[in-house]
Amino acid sequence: MTRIEKHFVNRKKKAEGNIKKVQSALQQIEIEKINNVLELGCGTGFVSKYLADSYDFNVYGTDFDSEQIQIARKLQPKSEHLHFQVEDAAKLSFKDSSIDLVLSQNVFHHIPNWEDAIREIVRVLRSGGYFIWLDLTFPEVIKKIFQSFVKNYGLYTVNDIKTAFENNGFKKLSYERIAHGPFSQHHFILQLR
Ligand SMILES: C[S@@+](CC[C@H](N)C(=O)[O-])C[C@H]1O[C@@H](n2cnc3c(N)ncnc32)[C@H](O)[C@@H]1O
Repeated sequence: MTRIEKHFVNRKKKAEGNIKKVQSALQQIEIEKINNVLELGCGTGFVSKYLADSYDFNVYGTDFDSEQIQIARKLQPKSEHLHFQVEDAAKLSFKDSSIDLVLSQNVFHHIPNWEDAIREIVRVLRSGGYFIWLDLTFPEVIKKIFQSFVKNYGLYTVNDIKTAFENNGFKKLSYERIAHGPFSQHHFILQLR
């Protein structure tokens, strides 16, 4: 991310909004079956910390950017159930079927090879595991114009992402379109079949 993006993304207020969204998502899944949680693109780590403290999950807060992981380690007091580490969502170091819940908030539009990230999530999730996804999608026209030269962002429409979830074995538990307009935001709660 650029410095300006980091300035906006790393605000505590932003994290508070993300926590509210994850709280509502967790009401829709069987949390008693959750032990290992993987957060992709955890940034400052507030959401991972919240999940470790409030639900007693074993949480891996991960981010591609080592600077973000350093910030998370600095801001979040150490705890037994919370681990911060550098990871690329499209090439995870976790073992097959080792995770019960994957969380990704506002990360996929930063991943050019986002379809690889979906395949990796499927690999590390156990059967019946959950995937909470929140992000922007782009209109078809924006995708068409920018895809030949924008190489460091993920450009996909809402239909692209829905199709990719379905084709990779996810069942949709709930779906909400949060923001409207050209860059709409969508919240999916999915379960791996
Ligand atoms: C817009 S921020 C979102 C941070 C936080 N989840 C939130 O919603 O505020 C996107 C984060 O994804 C991280 N990121 C970008 N590409 C990634 C990748 N391939 N794997 C894991 N994290 C990635 C960035 O470093 C950044 O911290």
